[in-house]
This record gives sequence, structure tokens and C-alpha cells, in this order.
Amino acid sequence: MQITYYGHSCFGVEVNGKKLLFDPFISPNELTKGLVDATTVEADYILISHGHEDHIADAVAIAKRTKAKVICNAEICYWLEKQGVENIHPMNIGGKVKLEFGNVKCVVAIHSSSLPDGSNGGNPMGFVVESTEGNFYYAGDTALTYDMKLIGDYRSINFAFLPIGDNFTMGVDNALIACDFINCGDIIGMHYDTFGFIQIDKSEAVYKFNRAGKNLTLLEIGQTIKK
Ligand code: NI
Ligand code: MN
Repeated sequence: MQITYYGHSCFGVEVNGKKLLFDPFISPNELTKGLVDATTVEADYILISHGHEDHIADAVAIAKRTKAKVICNAEICYWLEKQGVENIHPMNIGGKVKLEFGNVKCVVAIHSSSLPDGSNGGNPMGFVVESTEGNFYYAGDTALTYDMKLIGDYRSINFAFLPIGDNFTMGVDNALIACDFINCGDIIGMHYDTFGFIQIDKSEAVYKFNRAGKNLTLLEIGQTIKK
């Protein structure tokens, strides 16, 4: 798999030749200026964890331009439809769908999910992607929750995207516990440094993971890695 970081919680992941884009928030993010451009980001599928602005800001524009299929909860899907997005796939927590690149399963996230205009954004979710190239967990915005044990107990997770910025989501120390719940120590950090409330000490975060025998990757915006 190939992973590209677009800042905050937005990642492109290429799985079996298909381009998945998670939580598109690029153009309003000051940190992405000159590094990535929302008007050229590619996507075959757009997966949206919840309705908050910092996860959905570029979704309508990218969905219309790329014609990517948008996967999110039903409330967000119908809201996107009202904005003119046609290619949608509504889901909800606990549901799984088989797609051409692999399976997407929606899992519990403990957070909130209003949409930018105040509409009901349903419940927040995380995603588990299962494929012949490997399995990964994209947590979205969430607190640490014991439900994460279900993710690791019944499949192997090769790597996971976890929020580490604290304040609105879990922070580094709880992410370390989440690693144990999902039985995976290879983590890509997200939801940190974008705005004041979530600025972290990155070297301390990496140190804490190393000390626990785990790996925390903090990508540069625009950086691409292989997994
Ligand atoms: Ni949020
Ligand atoms: Mn957020």
C-alpha cells in the first residue's frame, strides 16, 4: 500500500490500485499551503469519519471533481447529496461492505458529528479496511474505548491511523493503550498540531512509543510512504 499525508487527519491510501482518501480537510489548513493542493488530489473513494469541518471541508469539491464514491454515515451522505454529490454509499456503525479493493467495516468512534452548517451529522465512525495487501484501522476522531478490542481480537491489523493530539480526541498516552487493544504497534499519527488546542511535543510522542516497543510515524505533509 502507498500512503500520502495531506495534513491533519487527511490521508490518501492506495489499496490494490484504488485510491482511498480519508477525511479531506486541505484547503482551510494553513499547514498545507504550498505543500499539497486540494484541487489536484486524486480519489476513487472518499471515506469520511464524521461531519466536523476539519474532516469534511474539501469533500464536496473533491467528490464532484473526481466522481469518487463517498463512504460515510447516512446522515452525512444525504447532506452531501443536497450539495450535489451524486456518488454516495451510506453506511453505519457495525456494517461492512465488499468493494473492488477489499472490505470496509465501520466501527465505533466516541466523539460527536455535527455538520458545518449545524445539520445532524449522525454518529462518528472509524473504518477498518481489509484487503489482500493487508489490513488497517483508521480511527477518525475518537476517545480511547474498550470497543477497540473487538478490532484487534478478530483480525490482524498491520498498521493504524490514530489521533494523538489530545483535547478533542485521545492523546499519545491513550493511543499507546489503543495499540494494545487493537494488537498493533505500528501507528501513523494524526489530528495533531493543526491548531492551537492540539499542538503536541512530537519528539516526546515518538519517544514514548519507542519506550513502549511501538512505532509512531509522523509524516511530513505531502510525504508518501509504502506499507
Ligand atoms: Ni471531530
Ligand atoms: Mn477533528
